Amino acid sequence: DASEIQACALFAEFVAKEAGEMIRRAIVAEKVFDLKSSVVDLVTETDKAVETFIIDSLKSRYPDHRFIGEESVAGGIKHDLTDAPTWIIDPIDGTTNFVHTFPCVAVSIGFSVEKQLVAGIIFHVMAEEMYTAVKGHGAFCNGLPIKVSQARTLSGALVITEVGSARDPLRMDAFYKNFKAVLATDAHGIRAMGSAAINMCMVARGAGDICYEYGIHCWDIAAGAVIITEAGGYICDPTGAELDQMSRRFVGGATKEICTQLCGILTHLTLERD
Ligand code: IPD
Repeated sequence: DASEIQACALFAEFVAKEAGEMIRRAIVAEKVFDLKSSVVDLVTETDKAVETFIIDSLKSRYPDHRFIGEESVAGGIKHDLTDAPTWIIDPIDGTTNFVHTFPCVAVSIGFSVEKQLVAGIIFHVMAEEMYTAVKGHGAFCNGLPIKVSQARTLSGALVITEVGSARDPLRMDAFYKNFKAVLATDAHGIRAMGSAAINMCMVARGAGDICYEYGIHCWDIAAGAVIITEAGGYICDPTGAELDQMSRRFVGGATKEICTQLCGILTHLTLERD
């Protein structure tokens, strides 16, 4: 029930804070990275250590829950999303930033019950901003309520997107087309924080009007989807259909209107599902 979910979210917030401290200590040290799906898809020992810490901590409190973690999946442990209470974890969202000491790195923890996202926790580590949301209870940054902007059109909007962690011709072609299409709307600008989770927090707090990306994974957007929705915003698939958490693409914006406009101008990509 609702109070149980709130208790889960509160515990996850505590775990995210501790995980953030691990990242804060490691970001100033020397970083060694390995490659995952491409030469621009990076992973470090810190990603793995932080994920282990988060999963172990949540498991000790909730032994019956399931877990989908970015690095566990990369290590070969694939869990389908089921109806069971499931934590969807990105230990460091913004690993490339982490490797380059660019201070936009986040711990992202989403919580799903019966395949519905019901809570999201994102700790923007270097800014010390804890974004939290529980379905039906609003969105907060460091305990204060946050709200999306009122933007209804791309004209005049601040749009956030990412190149992502692949450079294959199909993906790049769609990226350039979409970049051009967005600029042609007289949007005020395009930003990329290097962390899908932080991008979504920016939209949730009204600091950006809309964000979208093809190629993300469920752990990049699970928490952010709840935070944007609870901040009064709108989340959908880039086709305008309902968000499919495992489809590797999303649009999240201040209003349904601005999302519908963006969906209408995007060139869509269908990617291998999570
Ligand atoms: C990445 C970041 C990045 C986005 C990539 C993600 P990671 O997550 O969110 O902003 O463009 O698509 O994979 O690998 O740093 O956890």
